[in-house]
Amino acid sequence: MAMTKEMMEAIERDLVFLATASNEGVPNVVPIGFARPLDEDTILIADNYMNKTRENLEENPTISLVTKDATKCPFQFKGKIEIFTSGKYFDIVTEWGQNAMTKLSPKAAILMKVEEIYSIQPGPDAGKQIR
Ligand SMILES: Cc1cc2nc3c(=O)[nH]c(=O)nc-3n(C[C@H](O)[C@H](O)[C@H](O)COP(=O)(O)O)c2cc1C
Repeated sequence: MAMTKEMMEAIERDLVFLATASNEGVPNVVPIGFARPLDEDTILIADNYMNKTRENLEENPTISLVTKDATKCPFQFKGKIEIFTSGKYFDIVTEWGQNAMTKLSPKAAILMKVEEIYSIQPGPDAGKQIR
């Protein structure tokens, strides 16, 4: 599901709140700084410190995220992830970590395929699927 240029820019520059759920349906939400669109359908996320998040991702690959400043990007993104601990996606997040102010060594790269986008704009369209 294609993200617009504005959506991609908002995800690139802002923190995102990443929601996961265990197989039993226990939710978990965390702020994530290293989430960057690779193209209009894909968001790459660095697992630097994930614990419950990572457990949930391994049990249940479906995630949802919003940007911190949802007034500028009033959309909810949903999709499925794959986890990579080597290879080209892992190399990208490793490079992000090396270039960070305090050097980081990511544990994994989380690749999200964006499948659904919903409006979260308050008003009549709140919650409507737009893509
Ligand atoms: C501002 C901020 C940015 C963060 N960015 C990341 C990140 O890019 N990657 C990451 O793995 N954890 C990041 N964290 C840590 C996670 O939010 C969280 O602490 C970690 O996933 C452990 O929580 P969990 O056990 O619920 O997964 C960040 C935390 C804060 C406060």
